[in-house]
Amino acid sequence: MMNSRIENAFNEQLNAELFSSYLYLSMAAYFESQNLKGMAAWMQMQAQEEHMHGMKFFDFINERGGRITLTTIKEPQTEWGSPLAVFEETCEHEAKVTSLIHNLVDLSLEEKDHAANTFLQWFVTEQVEEESTAQEIRDKLRLVKDNTVALFMIDQELGRRRAPAAGGTEA
Ligand code: FEO
Repeated sequence: MMNSRIENAFNEQLNAELFSSYLYLSMAAYFESQNLKGMAAWMQMQAQEEHMHGMKFFDFINERGGRITLTTIKEPQTEWGSPLAVFEETCEHEAKVTSLIHNLVDLSLEEKDHAANTFLQWFVTEQVEEESTAQEIRDKLRLVKDNTVALFMIDQELGRRRAPAAGGTEA
């Protein structure tokens, strides 16, 4: 069984992961509106991955005999000033998610919930990759500035992202 502090915190994280999915889908829609198809595809895949993260919490709460409570998912932003602005925000968002995960790890230690702690380790590792991938793209976009040829090259490169194998962790 899960205690109620862990149950509530895990339900909040489930909501946060679904919000991440919604945010990245909104970014995909923005890129579609800018005709940046590669970036749009990359963000769609990112949205799917966040949904998978949410489902990991969903399944874990269930397996531990907790009760899942779905609540309102916040409305995401819909417009950005540039592709760089999107990836600046992606980096900030992932840093925020990392701190949420770390808070959950702290809570699992406080509550001596070893199963929750082990479950969360996957997310600790995943966040290192998520942050590093987003930062790499942001840094490239900072370098290209207003060079549209370079921007389209990055767009093509991001369009080559493939879905990870089942259970994989591609960011
Ligand atoms: Fe589920 Fe991008 O963290």
